[in-house]
Amino acid sequence: MKTLNVGVIGYGFMGRAHSNAYRTVGNFFDIAHQPVLKAACGRNEENVKAFAEKWGYESVETDWRKLLERDDIDAIDICTQNNFHCEIAIAAAKAGKMILCEKPLAMNVAEGEQMVAAVEEAGVPNIVWYNYRRVPAVTMAKQLIDEGRLGKIYHYRAQFLQDWTIAEDLPQGGAGLWRLDVNEAGSGVTGDLLAHCIDTAIWLNGSIDKVSAMTETFVKERMHNISGQVEKVGIDDACAFLARFANGSLAVFESTRYARGHKALYTFEINGEHASIAWDLHDLHRLSYFDHKDDSNLRGWRSIHVTDGEHPYMDKWWVPGLQIGYEHSFVHQVADFLQGLEEGKPVSPTFREALETQKICEAVLESGKSGAWVNVEC
Ligand SMILES: NC(=O)c1ccc[n+]([C@@H]2O[C@H](COP(=O)([O-])OP(=O)(O)OC[C@H]3O[C@@H](n4cnc5c(N)ncnc54)[C@H](O)[C@@H]3O)[C@@H](O)[C@H]2O)c1
Repeated sequence: MKTLNVGVIGYGFMGRAHSNAYRTVGNFFDIAHQPVLKAACGRNEENVKAFAEKWGYESVETDWRKLLERDDIDAIDICTQNNFHCEIAIAAAKAGKMILCEKPLAMNVAEGEQMVAAVEEAGVPNIVWYNYRRVPAVTMAKQLIDEGRLGKIYHYRAQFLQDWTIAEDLPQGGAGLWRLDVNEAGSGVTGDLLAHCIDTAIWLNGSIDKVSAMTETFVKERMHNISGQVEKVGIDDACAFLARFANGSLAVFESTRYARGHKALYTFEINGEHASIAWDLHDLHRLSYFDHKDDSNLRGWRSIHVTDGEHPYMDKWWVPGLQIGYEHSFVHQVADFLQGLEEGKPVSPTFREALETQKICEAVLESGKSGAWVNVEC
């Protein structure tokens, strides 16, 4: 067995999701490289110790710089909020560490470009956690498109809807609420939610040439948890945009945290000349598929339960008919990253690939401000 000694920075939602993936992967995927939970890093010693004990980390650090200095760490996993991604990633690359970084890659394109330059100069393996690509039904959508089953693609539409920031007295900033503070998050739903939709979209349907967006901040001021003052809200609460893909297809994307009744409704639908595909995160193990080549009397939307051994990743899990869930997309990402190390190949999405999503997000935000179509310079 070859070990990959991992140091995870941040022990919140993603710290847990990734730790679970590192612990699980070796039980289901036969890959020579296996992760070792070497160190957990967080600023609060008591909390990071409790986290390390719960998840089985061998040691803790309270300063990420110390973690980077350690010779027994091969890979740094950045699970902090967005405003730390760039600084940590550049330092980690300089220290010669492999990097697994949470999405969005950075606060903005300028930071993202520096991060790409740093990992490419250091020649370290790198990947960004756009995990929805590795939900088996989504991976299967990619296979169907690549096999040409849809033919020419005309339409792509995606939504990511939530409802958790409607209350006007919800504060911004700090633990749990950094997503509402533009200085910690970079943007609102665009970088947080639409970035996922964009990553999936460009993976499935190729690059986006131009966008036209509208954004809104429904609650203009919120109490800031750190300053204790009422401060302007700088993030986009909602964003809808039109896009033109390089392959000629048209797209509509929408995301909001004000869609009462929706918690994490990520859906996409793709309409091609011969067939259409639809997927819904709330039913993530199913892929909806309509094939116009079916006999006309039998034509209709199929709901494929993506649980057979021939479906992506599913031969590694249970028996046909038994489904897996959200957390497994992270296990798959770790498995693919380890397989990439075996083969000495980069695994998507690399920092460079995630920079494309960052550029589209930035074009969307620019268009939201100006009201004009904005070209995406990739
Ligand atoms: N891939 C996904 O589906 C997905 C889902 C949620 C979040 N994310 C991304 O993951 C990242 C973290 O989000 P989260 O929901 O886990 O946030 P969180 O608030 O639950 O956790 C953030 C963690 O980072 C720690 N942290 C912050 N600054 C630090 C520093 N300087 N040194 C050490 N630790 C530090 C915090 O203490 C906390 O433990 C964000 O970039 C977010 O966009 C991705």
